[in-house]
Amino acid sequence: MIKKAVHKFKKIINKNPDRLFDPDFLESINYKTPFFLFSKKRIVDNYKQFKKLFPKSIINFAMKANSEVEVLKILKEAGSGFEVASIYELELLKKLHIPPNKIIYGTSVKPSDQIAKFFEYGVDRFACDSFSELEKIAINAPGSKVYIRVIANDAGSVFKFSTKFGTETASIIPLLSRAVDLGLKPYGISFHVGSQASDPEAWANVIQSLRSIIEDLRDLGIKLETLNLGGGYPCHYLSSENAPLLSEIASATIKQYKKLPYQPKLILEPGRGIIANAAVLVARVIARIERRGSTWLFLDAGCYNALFETMAYQGSTRYLITSMRPTKNSGESLFAVAGPTGDSPDIISREVLLPSDIDVGDKLIIHDTGAYSLSTSMAFNGFPKPNAYYV
Ligand SMILES: Cc1ncc(COP(=O)(O)O)c(C=O)c1O
Repeated sequence: MIKKAVHKFKKIINKNPDRLFDPDFLESINYKTPFFLFSKKRIVDNYKQFKKLFPKSIINFAMKANSEVEVLKILKEAGSGFEVASIYELELLKKLHIPPNKIIYGTSVKPSDQIAKFFEYGVDRFACDSFSELEKIAINAPGSKVYIRVIANDAGSVFKFSTKFGTETASIIPLLSRAVDLGLKPYGISFHVGSQASDPEAWANVIQSLRSIIEDLRDLGIKLETLNLGGGYPCHYLSSENAPLLSEIASATIKQYKKLPYQPKLILEPGRGIIANAAVLVARVIARIERRGSTWLFLDAGCYNALFETMAYQGSTRYLITSMRPTKNSGESLFAVAGPTGDSPDIISREVLLPSDIDVGDKLIIHDTGAYSLSTSMAFNGFPKPNAYYV
């Protein structure tokens, strides 16, 4: 069992050789644990990587993945646009003076009053996947641009959206025709292959399935301005060691895109792909207990306040966890690692390889924790959201 864990661990390290921060540096900063530390450079580099691999595309960061003000500022500076899911998120962008032409309202089912507030601010691009939503947009944001979200095959993704969102491909033409009747502008088609996708062809396959519809629309006089590829770009977590590289995804996707009868402008809505590997969480061991065949380490951060996606039904993500201090002569052992709350699902992992003598007071680094961690944090049992710092 230990051999298997060590092998897996080494494979991940090799795939991501440039770990975000050096443990000595992390030790030197000595903030009160738990805390998140973000690399500004990694955020910008990730954004630039999307721009490079998807030339001429529009990148709208899905701020649901991380809506910390500093993150939004960094991405604003870099030139990013934003995919927004509510007026609460919109308010954050307004405070940063992000102009409406950098914002799309990407959830395809929205409260009417929120559509009106986006429109009031000047946002004129809305996702939609039903006739009733079209009517809502026409009333609350007259004359706006709409893009139709279609279901995508999300079988290979950890988080699947296609049961809740997206219309059948056959409904695209009726919906866009109705949009025209309602005085709205047909802007494009969007899809989401599911978050933390594992198939590099997932985006390409959807594009291929849309080819004939795009032709039919053109014959009807509807030329799409954009094709929105959504999010889904994965991070190399310990639990997704074979996740494809962005370059593999991009080359498969662009190949299919070029086969379209014409090339609408591409919009991408990466959340995880921009922010996941730009942060670590540093947490401290608050207890070491032998229990039912395992050695348990309890930390001062857990699933509720910092690592929501480690929970079963929330992805069961297994992050790479390393010790802040090097292994001494004691060797390494497997540990179960849990959060501080009194709730039994608050278990971060049952199998973490760490120095055998790790004990209370030692600090652990939990890698690649920038996405859906702070934005999903809740103060269950009163444990607050960890502070975030930026270097
Ligand atoms: C409409 C939309 N766009 C983009 C994203 C971001 O997805 P990811 O973080 O997988 O890139 C989401 C995630 O829920 C979404 O709902």
